[in-house]
Amino acid sequence: MASRSAPARLLSFGSFVWFAACAPAATPPPREAPPAPACAARVDALLAKMTLDEKLGQMVQAERKVVEKGDVAKYFLGSILSGGGSAPGGATPGEWADMTDALHAEARTTRLGIPLLYASDAVHGHNNVVGATIFPHQIGLGCTRDPALIEAVARATAQEIAGTGVDWTFAPLVGPARDPRWGRFYETYAERPEVSGLLGAAAIRGLQGDRLGGTGVLACAKHFAGDGLTTFGTTKGEGLIDRGDVQMGDDDFMRVAVAPYASSIAAGVGSIMVSFNSVRGTPMHANEALVTDVLKRRMRFEGVVISDWSALRLLPGSYYEQVVASVNAGIDVTMDAEKLYWRDFLRTAKEAVQKGDISMARVDDAVRRVLAVKCELGVFDRAQRTDRALTAKIGSAEHRALARRAAQASFVLLRNEANLLPLSKAARLVVTGSGASSLARQAGGWTVDWQGAEGKSFPGTTILEGLRAAGDPARVHADPAKPADIAIVVASEPPYAEWEGDAKDPALSNEDVDAIDRANKTGLPVVVVLLSGRPIAVAPHLRKASAWLAAWLPGSEGAAVADVVFGDVTPTGKLAHAWPVRAGASGPPLFDFGFGLSYPTSSTKR
Ligand code: BGC
Ligand code: BGC
Repeated sequence: MASRSAPARLLSFGSFVWFAACAPAATPPPREAPPAPACAARVDALLAKMTLDEKLGQMVQAERKVVEKGDVAKYFLGSILSGGGSAPGGATPGEWADMTDALHAEARTTRLGIPLLYASDAVHGHNNVVGATIFPHQIGLGCTRDPALIEAVARATAQEIAGTGVDWTFAPLVGPARDPRWGRFYETYAERPEVSGLLGAAAIRGLQGDRLGGTGVLACAKHFAGDGLTTFGTTKGEGLIDRGDVQMGDDDFMRVAVAPYASSIAAGVGSIMVSFNSVRGTPMHANEALVTDVLKRRMRFEGVVISDWSALRLLPGSYYEQVVASVNAGIDVTMDAEKLYWRDFLRTAKEAVQKGDISMARVDDAVRRVLAVKCELGVFDRAQRTDRALTAKIGSAEHRALARRAAQASFVLLRNEANLLPLSKAARLVVTGSGASSLARQAGGWTVDWQGAEGKSFPGTTILEGLRAAGDPARVHADPAKPADIAIVVASEPPYAEWEGDAKDPALSNEDVDAIDRANKTGLPVVVVLLSGRPIAVAPHLRKASAWLAAWLPGSEGAAVADVVFGDVTPTGKLAHAWPVRAGASGPPLFDFGFGLSYPTSSTKR
């Protein structure tokens, strides 16, 4: 735990004192291993040969849809990303691998043959790929409090990523989150920095391995810093809180927003993404004090600092000023992803270097970091990029079993009056509610598409299918007119991502309230299974059901709900964010951080 007894003096962001006084005791002093000597020599030799155009190519990241054949070679592009849902053809593993292999091959034809990195947001499994295993979102994984499980999930995800020739994932999100009105709440592990830092480090180890260069992929701790700590109502563009302003004092900011990155760096993370938010009015993308002085110098982060999606364009001033401000703040790779923006970046950054507004030393620092990460990842020496044996294993039975286990461990039992749960497999069940038969809703945002998979199909098991498969299929149905012993209502939020998920008052939908009321009126005992990306307002309805199970966004393996409901697995999840009565309301929460019931050891099943 961070020490609160440090003198209440305000520390400047550049102050080194913070680490001595406030760094969480459990976190080893941040220090990234310097590049292996062989890589350092190789990078220096390359750098000495590179032209300015070749260097700037390493400093920009384009989106696949706006890169034409020949662009990689012509503009020396150092990396390309897939935005949410951006995929070739039908987004199958084979189509992905063919696409990335072609791009990798093109990079090899350049004068210096510097390999390309391909990036994607694999944030709960390799979710932009149809057929990938979809793991629970971080909101659920946080409730497991199980670093070994999270590392295993990340390891399996890394294998699926590598099976498509992708080398870089923009995960994990390591910042803590405090306000469920935020549309990205489900991307966070916990409200406490020490928990999110620790679990984030486990994910980084799983994705990358103990060090870069094994069979892992490049991880990215994001979004530095303060993404989940913005004040409601401070967003300038779309949304209510996403990309808003953090209004904490320096001391708290370092302890809560920055501290988790120390754990990420200690775990060897190779890249860190800068956040869209501002801190007391200063946008992070222009925040040299935090990005360069704190992250790179004080915390000794030696990897790549990448911008968020065209985030520099939200800075004040002309595009020229935006490029100068963000590069000089310490951003090494600019993801100017929208349209053909990456070309503007190359042109503008070149002009700024020629005019002396960006120094050659700054360019060299950025390029050295990018090349060092590439060298350490081992991509310079990998002739055939995609391991097709891994392509064939995407969505394997083994990975799906792991996802099911992770989902089981993530569920939090909120209420269980008269020990209604676990149920007997012989009970007749009527299963209703908006989430009973919806893979899209149980998977949430960042699945197949940026905003989620509503209307799209991908492999998985729905909650109703899982209940049917576990019990007697003839006794589990969705028809309220048929006789039943127990009513299960699977309530859910529709999927969402980023600011589109910002909400003033996240609550149960009318449709699900009706389903709960109808079930309640039958006189049957009622179980509510809640699929949500955050704690939502349930207090007025709590007593209408004897049991409430928070299942979060479990992913493709809906059968995990049956495992817990029938007692094959005992619920062990504990809340990693307090559950407020209403988001934004003051007063004690409905359920505290750490809350979670289990089953009595000798329960008779209903
Ligand atoms: C998000 C990032 C994401 C990036 C690339 C941004 O809009 O904020 O979390 O990694 O897009 O898709
Ligand atoms: C997201 C991308 C997405 C894009 C769509 C961005 O903010 O991060 O991943 O594809 O918006 O406009």
